[in-house]
Formats: sequence, C-alpha cells, structure tokens
Amino acid sequence: MKFFVDTADTKDIADLAASGLIDGVTTNPSLIAKSGRPFAEVIAEICALTPGPVSAEVVATDYDGMIKEGRKLAKIASNVTVKLPLTLDGLKACKTLTGDGTQVNVTLCFSANQALLAAKAGATFISPFIGRLDDIHLDGMELIHEIRQIYDNYLFDTEILAASIRTANHVKQCALAGADVMTAPPAVIKSLVNHPLTDKGLEIFLADAKKAGIKV
Ligand code: E4P
Repeated sequence: MKFFVDTADTKDIADLAASGLIDGVTTNPSLIAKSGRPFAEVIAEICALTPGPVSAEVVATDYDGMIKEGRKLAKIASNVTVKLPLTLDGLKACKTLTGDGTQVNVTLCFSANQALLAAKAGATFISPFIGRLDDIHLDGMELIHEIRQIYDNYLFDTEILAASIRTANHVKQCALAGADVMTAPPAVIKSLVNHPLTDKGLEIFLADAKKAGIKV
C-alpha cells in the first residue's frame, strides 16, 4: 500500500520524505489556506520535495473552469495530479484531462456508485472519505470494501486512495481492505510506529546492556 501525506506543510513533508515512508502528497483548498501561502508556490515546493504524485485541487465548479485550472496546475510540475470534485462536470473534466495524459484524483467520494462513475471517467485515483462518513455515523470502511470489490469485478485501473483517515486503526483497516493508497495527516503516519511494548522492551534491553557494560 502506498502512503501519501495529507498536508500542505512543507516542513512536515520534507521530514517524512527523508524517512522514505511516503510515496506522494495530497492537498485540498482547506489545507492550502491553512498554509497561508500562495497556491502555485506551495504546490511547486511540494512537488520538488517528492517525486511521487502531488494532488492539487481546482476551485472552479464548471467544466470549462476546471479544464482551465487543471491545465494550469498540471504545468507547475510533471508530478502534479489534478484533483477534481465528484460532480458531473468534474467527471467530464476527468475524461478530458486524463485524455491529455494528466493524472486525475477524483475527490469527495462518499458512495460506491460515485466510485464506479469515476473509474468509468478514467480517474487515476478515487478518494473515498472514510472519516467524514464515520462523522455522520456511517461506516467509512465499508465503502472501501465495496469499491475494492467493484473495481476487481471489472478490472478497473483506478487506484483506491483512502482519504479522510483519522486514526492508526483506519490505516490498518484500509490495508486489510486492499486500498491501493492511503492518505493521512503527518501525525497519524508517525503514530503508526508506536507500541507500548516496543518502548518497554527497549527500556529493558538498554537497562540490561548498561548493567552488563555492553558496548557495540
Ligand atoms: C484527501 O484528499 C483530503 O484532503 C483529506 O483526506 C480530507 O480529510 P478530512 O476529512 O480529515 O479533512
């Protein structure tokens, strides 16, 4: 499973990229706004930090506007993936932009039928939002299982990019469900390493080594 980091904070991205644990980056307009930096500048900087796909989202909602913005974003760097909302205009723009050879991430997916449409429109990635479904007391993970089955039934190439991941358990469940990619905030990715028995075990080993005067 590929790991993308869901942030526009370039310090966090540089830090995780150096660990070799991330394969790409996702952003959205809320994350760009939080960075407080100009859109094109921050996307260009992120693209230079990782060779992997970097999702940059359009803000237009009509087909012509999405095509114009998508082509502009795609020119920033060769690893820009244009992120489009799951609307009829978004799907039409997905068909056009992928036809140009641009990678497209169709975002804001909340149902299996929406994911089926995105695959038919040739999306490179589909982003089902797990956490936001859980927030309204639905089962976000069930959606990942449904999409996996549908894509496997018809051999669609579209990659399932599990998004809106909030916990380490979400990551594990996505891996078990066969998501191709998961995107999570830096803190969630870093938390995956934690286990109290690892900490305790290390403490004991180091104490025993000190007592015995072991040097390596
Ligand atoms: C993914 O592409 C989205 O940017 C993100 O995962 C949304 O997560 P949230 O629901 O925690 O805002």
